[in-house]
Amino acid sequence: MAVTWLLVPFTRSQEIALAAMKTLVVDHPLVAHKLTALRDVRTDSPTFRRLADELVTLLAYEATRDVRVVDATVSTPVAPAHGVRLARPAPLVVPILRAGLGMLDGMTRLLPTAEVGFLGMIRDEGTLKAQTYATRLPEDLSGRQCYVLDPMLATGGTLAAAIQLLFERGAEDVTAICLLAAPEGLAYMEQVFTDSGNPVRVVTAALDERLNEHGYIVPGLGDAGDRLYGVV
Ligand code: URA
Repeated sequence: MAVTWLLVPFTRSQEIALAAMKTLVVDHPLVAHKLTALRDVRTDSPTFRRLADELVTLLAYEATRDVRVVDATVSTPVAPAHGVRLARPAPLVVPILRAGLGMLDGMTRLLPTAEVGFLGMIRDEGTLKAQTYATRLPEDLSGRQCYVLDPMLATGGTLAAAIQLLFERGAEDVTAICLLAAPEGLAYMEQVFTDSGNPVRVVTAALDERLNEHGYIVPGLGDAGDRLYGVV
């Protein structure tokens, strides 16, 4: 996992293709501006929530670039116009509780007809392994495009477990939207999804330096759940 990927001179957004997945680091001044304010330790919870919400909408715009559509024709007051509408089945948006909940409104603002499933996952702070404590998802996800919301792609354990669960239920392709990613997490995702045969995309506002010994992203933004909702 080379940090030199970031040196590839893409003009707008940096797309990094790995063997089994693609990572898009969205390179846009508004994204960078909001992310900088989000990282700032002085940013209070109400402002953090608003910024995260706005940031997700910007990331969602890029993340939905491959959303499936079908041809559609409408009549304008003047003449028929050929266009598209979202294909069925509707995309499924899956926030990973609890921090992913802070990304839901920003996502559904852009994709209001999407259905929403929920996954409650918690990281054991000792082992850094993910445990599922709540699942509210359709049993059959055949043919579905899924968008997983998880603000921090740190070790990758939680996100990979969530995505595997979606594929086990028949999801067609999965895009993860993360505010931040660590190189270690992307490497883990690559390892898990290599040869899986299922397309996985990660869309993020930044690829940070590394994880620290506590599994936190450096420089990161701290604990996303705590900053959104307080320490409860
Ligand atoms: N989860 C967080 O909330 N922050 C990190 O830096 C890593 C995991």
